[in-house]
Amino acid sequence: MGHSAAKFGFICSVSAPALGLLTKFTFPSFFLSISPNILPITLSIALVFAFIFFALSNSSNNPPGPLPVPIFGNWLQVGNDLNHRLLASLSQKYGSVFRLKLGYKNLVVVSDAELANQVLHAQGVEFGSRPRNVVFDIFTGNGQDMVFTIYGDHWRKMRRIMTLPFFTNKVVHNYSGMWEEEMDLVVCDLMNNPKVKSEGILISLCYVLPQNQRHKTTPIKGRIMAANGEKHKISCAMDHIIDAQLKGEISEENVIYIVENINVAAIETTLWSMEWAIAELVNHPTVQQKIREEISTVLKGKEVTESNLHELPYLQATVKETLRLHTPIPLLVPHMNLEEAKLGGYTIPKESKVVVNAWWLANNPAWWKNPEEFRPERFLQEESSTEAVAGGKVDFRFLPFGVGRRSCPGIVLALPILGLIISKLVTNFEMKPPNGMEKIDVSEKGGQFSLHIANHSTAAPALELRRCSLSLEGNERYYCCPLFVGGVSVFS
Ligand code: HEM
Repeated sequence: MGHSAAKFGFICSVSAPALGLLTKFTFPSFFLSISPNILPITLSIALVFAFIFFALSNSSNNPPGPLPVPIFGNWLQVGNDLNHRLLASLSQKYGSVFRLKLGYKNLVVVSDAELANQVLHAQGVEFGSRPRNVVFDIFTGNGQDMVFTIYGDHWRKMRRIMTLPFFTNKVVHNYSGMWEEEMDLVVCDLMNNPKVKSEGILISLCYVLPQNQRHKTTPIKGRIMAANGEKHKISCAMDHIIDAQLKGEISEENVIYIVENINVAAIETTLWSMEWAIAELVNHPTVQQKIREEISTVLKGKEVTESNLHELPYLQATVKETLRLHTPIPLLVPHMNLEEAKLGGYTIPKESKVVVNAWWLANNPAWWKNPEEFRPERFLQEESSTEAVAGGKVDFRFLPFGVGRRSCPGIVLALPILGLIISKLVTNFEMKPPNGMEKIDVSEKGGQFSLHIANHSTAAPALELRRCSLSLEGNERYYCCPLFVGGVSVFS
């Protein structure tokens, strides 16, 4: 009873000034015309009605959660930084599905594998939309993109158009030679740069469309085009998208938002993962050594290529462990139910924002042995059947790419690219922390949409393990990204 009274007192103290201010600014003449003695009574009555209305609107079978106050909902209690760790701690108090009121909007948080299955797979249509807000509307031209658009015909068309040029095994097969060549050029550039040995390198991303550089930096592409003739030339992914525009299937705006989606969904996520992997490898030299040993034992001097990655389980386990511990999109991209739905026995009001805490699913000590440890071995031992997949046989505790209709179609590219990058770095260099440091700082930043390293560190490749066998054209320092829509630049 005392607890309820305290809650009511909290609600009154927060809401009274808010209602007062609202009235003052909305109806200033009304505010001036009433006597100062009547004002507190009027406000109190309004407050009681507001509270009763709010309590009634929350009393249906909604998921549990902290008691919301009118206007603000739970904002004053939980704050604005609703990152994966805060939501994980709230799930321990309120359960594996709970609701927060953010103003008048509902945020439903799912922290359990079976409920994640419901949201992403079993009820994938019901929860397959994306929430809309002013920011999304501005950045996507009111949903003209694919990643943030609502579930429906436009999303289906965009996903179909993007699949052929971006998300098939054929794309991986066609481009993997170019990826490998680009990566070898990066390695050579690092080896040829004397500063790298003494001072180390800081890897960062730059958004460029290296249209003319890409021909210089990918001789293999030139060779393939020459062999096939103009008619069968390999075109870049964007050529297919522009073709779709020329055929009238999509608009010019759609093309622009596809590029924007790729920048955010593809390049940044892969880059954050690379950075986490490099940091963890620097901090775990034995993992670097085990990868080297696996490559030399299995491949017996042959180069690691996309086609032999499947022969290297320890390397793949390292990629998985990086994505588990540092899930790059820890809450997935938010989902939304267009209509009222049921989840875990609760009613989810229509148009609720629904997030699956994928980081917590993969880091909950109830389900993982010492989850805070970076230990790729777990994926060869107690978790040997756990795969990073976006469909098929899914372990719903491990969803770095989501699963189901709105899952990441880029998984076919991201996994081999990460495997190749790690193998190229580890076989060519022994990566160490900068002088005077024992470990690289792996503190996190972000959490609502993305999880990246807080302090970008310099990794010092202490020892070149091999000699560079490629020659670079002049001072060329742009590298073609596998998708031809961005570039990874290495600055020293
Ligand atoms: C390590 C790298 C990556 C990670 C961790 C990642 C993760 C994710 C996640 C968690 C989602 C949302 C799933 C959901 O809402 O249920 C997603 C969506 C998406 N990703 Fe990725 N991704 C990566 C790389 C890529 C790449 C390389 C591409 C493209 C070339 C890509 C394209 C997309 C697209 C287009 C969507 C939206 C799908 C939709 O809404 O239908 N991603 N990704």
